[in-house]
Amino acid sequence: MSVPWRSRLLPLLLLVVAAAPVRAQDHTYSSADITTGVRLYGAQCQLCHGAGGDTVAGVNLRLGRFRRAVTDDDLATVIAKGVPPAMPGFTLSADDTRGLIAFIRAGFDPSGTAVKVGNVDRGRALFSGKGGCATCHRVHGTGPLAAPDLSDIGALRTPAALQRSLLDPTRAMLPINRPVTIVTTAGTTVRGRRTNEDTFSVQLVSDAGELVTVVKADIRSMEAGTTSPMPSVAKVLSTDEVADLVAYLLSLRGVQ
Ligand code: HEC
Ligand code: HEC
Repeated sequence: MSVPWRSRLLPLLLLVVAAAPVRAQDHTYSSADITTGVRLYGAQCQLCHGAGGDTVAGVNLRLGRFRRAVTDDDLATVIAKGVPPAMPGFTLSADDTRGLIAFIRAGFDPSGTAVKVGNVDRGRALFSGKGGCATCHRVHGTGPLAAPDLSDIGALRTPAALQRSLLDPTRAMLPINRPVTIVTTAGTTVRGRRTNEDTFSVQLVSDAGELVTVVKADIRSMEAGTTSPMPSVAKVLSTDEVADLVAYLLSLRGVQ
């Protein structure tokens, strides 16, 4: 009697699934991808873009500055189709294209980390929806002041820095962004986020969302917290969703 193929295949499939290594969330390209990219870049791209990736005006491949491209898919399209008439298209395998993108995203550092950059539109939807980012952050005039305004964050931070902020906000927190607690000589306590500080005064947005200026002469104590008020998305969003948010943040470059 012949066993139906399905019932013979099923245990096999289960075995394959069970044997697949349990991977940590894969937010980056592998070092093998980057190595592939190093080789291909030297052979195919360096002639025009230079060893430092900065010889074409308005484009700095090492720093991830492009004229139009934002996402990894955009880079794949540029490589495949070129930019007529200035740059030819290249017919490469998916692995080779992936390698070139990894090398560019690693900032041309063969031992660097190459962060994945997903889809801007999906990232925008996550920002105001599931990600809950818009409940704290302001973008282009919309949203609260409690957290830093992100309207030009894409011009200020690298993909790697943005990803770190999402996955590990406390470790990524810049000194100016630390939450502060100020006690004045009159005994009032103000908690919030500094927006500016000079020799004579500290400006902050209080936890209640108000802009407050405190004169330094009136300060009894000021402590800066070391834990970010921002929750990590590491266990909440998938790898692809994090890549989409990084893409959206990178697309924020000030005045639109
Ligand atoms: C013949 C010269 C030439 C070669 C070879 C070349 N490029 Fe370019 N590339 C250019 C020029 C010129 C531009 C700017 C085009 C423009 O925006 O008008 C450009 C633009 C780009 C951009 C930026 C697109 C944007 O949105 O600003 C990327 C990314 C890029 N090239 C990647 C590569 C990669 C990767 C390779 C190798 C596979 C490569 N290029 C090979 C000339 C070249
Ligand atoms: C509970 C409020 C809150 C939520 C929700 C929140 N953040 Fe934040 N975020 C902050 C605060 C406060 C800071 C400043 C302290 C720090 O850097 O960790 C910050 C910092 C950042 C930074 C670093 C800014 C810089 O100058 O480098 C980025 C990027 C960022 N958030 C993006 C996001 C995104 C994307 C989301 C949604 C997934 C999000 N945040 C959700 C409060 C929040």
